[in-house]
Order: sequence, then C-alpha cells, then structure tokens
Amino acid sequence: MTDPGPAPTPPLGEIFTPHRPIDVPDYLYGRRALLYRVTDAVNTAGLHVILFGDRGTGKTSIARVLARSIQEPRDRHGRRVLYVSCNSSDDFTSIWRRVFQEVLIAPRQLGFMPNPDDIAMERLDLTKVVDPNDVRLLIAGFPNPLVIVIDEFDRVPPGNNARRLMADTIKLFADLDVAATIVIVGVADSISELIVEHQSISRNTAQVPVDPMNVDELRDIISKGFSRAGMRLERGLDVKIAELSQGYPSYTHLLGLWAGRRALEHERKEVTLADLDAAIPDALTNVTGGVAQEYEQAIQSNHAGSLFADVLLACALAPRDALGRFSAKDLRDPLKKITHVTYATGAYQSHLAKFCESQRGPTLRKSGSRRSYKWRFVNPQVIPYILLRAKQESRLPADWATSG
Ligand SMILES: Nc1ncnc2c1ncn2[C@@H]1O[C@H](COP(=O)(O)OP(=O)(O)OP(=O)(O)O)[C@@H](O)[C@H]1O
Ligand SMILES: [Mg+2]
Repeated sequence: MTDPGPAPTPPLGEIFTPHRPIDVPDYLYGRRALLYRVTDAVNTAGLHVILFGDRGTGKTSIARVLARSIQEPRDRHGRRVLYVSCNSSDDFTSIWRRVFQEVLIAPRQLGFMPNPDDIAMERLDLTKVVDPNDVRLLIAGFPNPLVIVIDEFDRVPPGNNARRLMADTIKLFADLDVAATIVIVGVADSISELIVEHQSISRNTAQVPVDPMNVDELRDIISKGFSRAGMRLERGLDVKIAELSQGYPSYTHLLGLWAGRRALEHERKEVTLADLDAAIPDALTNVTGGVAQEYEQAIQSNHAGSLFADVLLACALAPRDALGRFSAKDLRDPLKKITHVTYATGAYQSHLAKFCESQRGPTLRKSGSRRSYKWRFVNPQVIPYILLRAKQESRLPADWATSG
C-alpha cells in the first residue's frame, strides 16, 4: 500500500472563520466547563437549558458543538437533535412548525424514522401547533428522545406570545416528564429579557451565561489555528491579537485570517507583528453586524477637535467591573494617555450623556444613582472595533494593554 502522506493543510479561510460559528468540537477553544455544564443539564431528566450573553460571545458555536456531540445517530433509539434559528417574524406556532419541519426536511441525515411506520410526520398538520400541549402531543409521537435547540430567540419580538408560551412549554415538559430537552439560545443581559415569567421555570432550567472569552482562550484560536495551517508566529503575536479582540472571538478570527494572508502574500511561513499591523485595515473593512456604522454614529461631530472619539476610546480602555461597567472617574487616566491632557470629569460628562442618546446609538447605557453612576457599552462588540480604529490611526497609547 502507498503511504497517503500527511493530511493536506487546510486553507486559512477554513481555519479562521470570523463570520461562521464553529461546529467541530476540536476547534471550539476554551468553554470546556461550560460544555460540561450544558451536557450534564441535557442528561438530567426534567432540566432544560437557556444559553444567554452579549452578542458575539460564541453562543451559537457552543450550541452547535453541543448538538453535534450529544447526537446518537447510529443508535436506532438514540438521541436526536433538532436545531432551528428564529427571526423577527416568528411566533410560538412558526417556531415549532420549523422545528417539526426539520424532521421532514432531513429525516435520513438526522437519523430519524429508521422505520417509516414509526411515525407519519407527513400527515401531521403543523398549523395546529398553537399551545404547549399541542407541542407535547407531537413530541410524544417521536420514537427518539429529542433535544430541540432554538437559537437567536432574542430576535422574536418582545411582547410576542412565544416568550411566555416557551416558559409554559418548559414547565409542561418538566411536569409531565416529556422525553425532550429544550435549549434556548439568545442575546440577553439576563434571562428575563428572553423569557417572560422565567421565575416559574427556574427550578427546571440551567441558566448558563456565555461570557466573552479570556486572553488564553483567544490565544489558542491563533496559535493552534496557525499550527494547523503549518505556519509559525512571531513571539507575542498571539497575545497581541487576543488582547485586541477584547473577549470577542470573531475579531480573533478576523485578525488571524488577514495577518496570515499578509504573510502568505510575501511567501513567508512566519506571521509577524508587522503583518498584524498591515492586516488591520482589512480586518476593519470586514467587521460585520453594523459595528462600523455604530462607531461612526457615536463619534460624529461638526467640530474639528471634538473629544467624542477620544472619550469613546477612553471608555474602551477603562477598567471594567464584572458587569462591564465603568465610572466617569475611570476614564481620567486613559483619556490622559490618549490626549496627553489631564481633563476633569466635568469636561467629558456631557460626552457620556450624549453617548446614551439615541442620536448616538445609544452606544452607552447608564445605570446606578446620582454620584455613583456607571456606564457600559450597549453592544460590547464595538470595543475591539474602537481599539482597532485607534491602532490604525496611531491613537492607541503604547501601554494600553493589561497583560504582556
Ligand atoms: N470557543 C470558540 N473557539 C473558537 N472560535 C470561536 C469560539 N466561539 C466562537 N468562535 C467564533 O467566534 C465567532 C462568533 O461566534 P458565534 O456565532 O458562535 O457567536 P454568537 O454568540 O452566537 O453570536 P451572535 O450573538 O451574533 O448570535 C465565529 O466566528 C466563531 O467561529
Ligand atoms: Mg448566534
């Protein structure tokens, strides 16, 4: 037999996927404890899961890897996963219609209905799914235990019946021991933003926050990614990219992809810090999700020399508490590093107030009470964008980073 030789090296665009969730367990870095927690919940009868967090923290990737790792397609009676994503025109009926349509669309692929007599889905009238009990009755007809992942649940309009009825469904499933686990995934600061009357299901749900990733986890995306590509890194490049990403893995993928391409353009196998600098304009151009427009709207001004961009950069560099909040005082040092001027808080209070107005996004949200107000970014994914813009414009102070 001839030796097949080493496996071919995948192209960079397959390794660094800024716009595509991960679904292969080996390429989901960090998140081990979180995956154990969610898997344990799925394996516990009567327990359902809510995965929530800021935009872009990696929720869909976790849900997809979970879905892949808990399927038992080779076992005739094994567990099956149905995965749907919601949109802004969904309600309770349309979400469940899509769930059941999944079974019709890909029965073989999912390993459903090994025996056509087991269930006759084609005969089911899916428009009749109007309340939780309808869902329960349909599920009872399935031959396999189910895990139903409902992603992007935040896109269902607030006030929509789905947000209440989903809680009722979870309660009903738990009370009547239905052989199905519901996993709800969505952008939210807290469960109450996703599910109405969530207190009634607190005993029946594992509520799992998906926080931004830490520097070590983001470094792994870079170092292991380039090693898969057969490339080497200049010392410190992985840390630099991880720090610029500020917890958001899509930026890590973006910077890895474009820095790697710069090196390849020069026919080098080593990716350097200079490649990273050269990659920043490409990375900024390819940021999606309206972040660039958010940034422009936040800093807009007719006055040359206005402080909006500098105050916003100071907000991005300020130390944040566990909830991502900072005080006006926290901006003083970073603002001094950026402008080389010592401003009193009074000089930028009005900027903070304006960032909270709809005319500028709002980019920030204020909380707390007089004298102890705190601010946080409405969409923290804009923070790495602000840093990259500043780096591109040579406005980023040399010692801005917290580590290394
Ligand atoms: N643990 C991880 N390891 C490596 N890459 C990751 C990880 N988590 C997420 N990513 C990458 O980060 C990006 C965003 O991930 P994902 O789409 O899962 O986030 P999300 O929280 O679902 O986003 P949204 O809030 O917009 O729905 C994708 O490019 C994905 O490949
Ligand atoms: Mg998602």
